[in-house]
Amino acid sequence: MLRHFLRDDDVSPAEQKAILDLADALKADPLGNKTLAGKSITAIFEKNSTRTRFSFEVGISQLGGHPVIVDGRSMQLGREETIEDTSRVLSRYVDGIVWRTFAQKRIEAMATAASIPVVNALTDEFHPCQALTDLMTIRERKGKLEGLTLVYLGDGANNMAHSLLLAGVTAGMHVRVVSPLGFQPDQQVMLDAKQRGEETGGTATVFTDPYAAVAGADVLVTDTWTSMGQENDGLDRVGPFRALQVNTELLKKAADDAIVLHCLPAHRGWEITDEVIDGPASAVWDEAENRLHAQKALLVWLFEESRR
Ligand code: CP
Ligand code: NVA
Repeated sequence: MLRHFLRDDDVSPAEQKAILDLADALKADPLGNKTLAGKSITAIFEKNSTRTRFSFEVGISQLGGHPVIVDGRSMQLGREETIEDTSRVLSRYVDGIVWRTFAQKRIEAMATAASIPVVNALTDEFHPCQALTDLMTIRERKGKLEGLTLVYLGDGANNMAHSLLLAGVTAGMHVRVVSPLGFQPDQQVMLDAKQRGEETGGTATVFTDPYAAVAGADVLVTDTWTSMGQENDGLDRVGPFRALQVNTELLKKAADDAIVLHCLPAHRGWEITDEVIDGPASAVWDEAENRLHAQKALLVWLFEESRR
C-alpha cells in the first residue's frame, strides 16, 4: 500500500519503532544492506534549509539513490501550475517526493494526487522528520523513550511543538508544551495526541509556567520563537517568550541527567543561551547528525511498505 509521511501519526507506534531501529542500524553501518539504487527522489524547498537539504541529498546518495534537489520557488508550481498537476507529473519522473512548504493542506494535496511516497520536510504545522530524529537522539542517550518526560518550550502552535506532541506520545512519552497564552497548540492536534496516548500510555499536557513544566524532566526542547513565514505576522514574538528561555537556571530544575535538544537554526541568547547549547547537557550536534540516519531509514521503510 502506498505510504506517505505527512505528519507524525501517519505511522503506528510499532512502525515508528521499526523506523527508529533501522535508523540506529544505518548509523552503525551507513551503507548498510539497504539500498535506494535505481530510485530518483526529489526534495523540493519552498523555504530556506540547511540540515534538511544536506541530509536528504547525502542520505539518498549514500544509499545509491539519485537526489534531485530543487528550489520550489523556481518551479512552475511557483507560477500557476497546480499542486495536483505537479504531483501527477513528478510521479512519472521520480520515485519519491520530499517537500518543504507552507500550509499542511498543500502537502496533503501533493500526496493525494501522487502515485509515489510523499514526505513532509517541514510545513507550517508539522516537522515530522525532525521529531523522528529527536526521538532517535533521545533513545540513543537514554536507552528508551517510553515513560520519559519531554518538555517543549516556545511557540506551542508551531511545527515542532505539534510534531513533538504527536511523535512523543506515539512513543509513549509524556509531552509537556509550555507556551505563552495565544501561542498554544492546535486543539485538534492535542486531541489527536491524547487519542494516541490511550494506545501507548503517553500523555500530552499544556503548561504556562516553565518552572512547573520542567521539574524533573528528562528532555528539554526549544525552537525559534519566529518560524519561517511568521516574520511579519504582527505578533509580539519576543516579550511573552522571554520567560521560556532555556538557560542554566531553568535547566537546573530538570532531572540531573536531562538533555537539551534544538532542531536548529538556534538564536543564541534568545530561546537558548550559549552556556546551555554549548554545555554538557546539549545533544544538538548529535541531533543534527541524526537527521541523516533517521531520514535514510524513513525512505527505505516507506519504499518497502509501499511495495507490499
Ligand atoms: N532543523 C531543520 O529542519 O533545519 P533546516 O531548516 O536547516 O533544514
Ligand atoms: N519552527 C521552525 C523550524 C525550523 C527548522 C520554522 O518553521 O522555521
